[in-house]
Amino acid sequence: MARKFGDRAAMSQPMVSIRGLKKSYGPTQALKGVDFEVPKGQVVGFLGPNGAGKSTTMKVLAGYVLADEGVATVAGIAVGPDSVEARKRIGYLPENNPIAEDMMVLDFLRFVAEVRGVPKAQRRARLQAAIERCGLGGVLGKDIGQLSKGYRQRVGLAQAILHEPDLLILDEPTSGLDPNQIVEIRKLITELGREKTVILSTHILSEVENTCQRVLIINDGRLVADGAPEALRKGEGTVTVVVASRVGVNVEADKVRAVLEGVPGVTRVEPSEGEGGGSLGFALRYQAEDPRRGVFEAAVKHDLLLLEMRHQQVSLEDTFRKLTARAEVRP
Ligand SMILES: Nc1ncnc2c1ncn2[C@@H]1O[C@H](COP(=O)(O)OP(=O)(O)O)[C@@H](O)[C@H]1O
Ligand SMILES: [Mg+2]
Repeated sequence: MARKFGDRAAMSQPMVSIRGLKKSYGPTQALKGVDFEVPKGQVVGFLGPNGAGKSTTMKVLAGYVLADEGVATVAGIAVGPDSVEARKRIGYLPENNPIAEDMMVLDFLRFVAEVRGVPKAQRRARLQAAIERCGLGGVLGKDIGQLSKGYRQRVGLAQAILHEPDLLILDEPTSGLDPNQIVEIRKLITELGREKTVILSTHILSEVENTCQRVLIINDGRLVADGAPEALRKGEGTVTVVVASRVGVNVEADKVRAVLEGVPGVTRVEPSEGEGGGSLGFALRYQAEDPRRGVFEAAVKHDLLLLEMRHQQVSLEDTFRKLTARAEVRP
């Protein structure tokens, strides 16, 4: 079971429901039992190291790969290679965006609209909307192979939204892009996320911090965390303090340390840099309870002058590394 961070929204009618998903490729168990739900309208980041099972989960959800066990539903409809109804609701941008290199952008999008079964009478309007949305007006006559990677991703997003799906499944949508292109694609995804439910995978942390309301961390075929980016960071950190004596005498390190160790919430105290002039520095670690108030009260009680107090929360990156560490040390 994944660690839960914070409360989840009420989910009467989830857009996505995945239960007990298992999938092996020969001897490789890519998914070892994955469960989660996504309410309508949420933008979810699917985060995990390479090989964690992100793409496999997304392929199953998009109906491109059959799971060995478990069920995936989209808007209450079971997903599978034959479930046309479910697929109508899904827009999928596969990893590495494998689109036809030798086709003209407009021809490609027309082709996709036809294949997806967009009714003829609506095709023109839908094409126009997707082209406008993804900023493709200037490159319609170009071959896809000629486009920059950023524009290729825009074409990939345009093909995913052509049939106006409720759910977008985007597998590493910014991978391989330069920083400017990343910003643009992220902006586009954020805009799309205002109307649609989005699941996007990435192995880049900053991606989810900026774009997603919720993060699912997957490692080695299992979910290991589920929560808002802030909630995944919360609850742990370090407070560094610099103290001196308020009454002019030199403070004794051992005594001050013992005082700080007694502050509620503090789990470990280590010496750190002071400011000179008889001041002492300490780093206080905490796991659950922010000890700053207690530090202040202890300083007052013991006649210590608090010259400095700095708070550093555990970063999402630390959480991610801790939760996925096992995979990294494996041969
Ligand atoms: N077509 C495949 N054949 C064999 N093994 C695969 C295949 N696709 C994925 N795998 C393996 O399944 C595991 C999960 O892969 P994947 O879902 O692509 O992870 P991620 O997208 O998180 O990098 C990895 O060990 C990968 O090597
Ligand atoms: Mg992948």
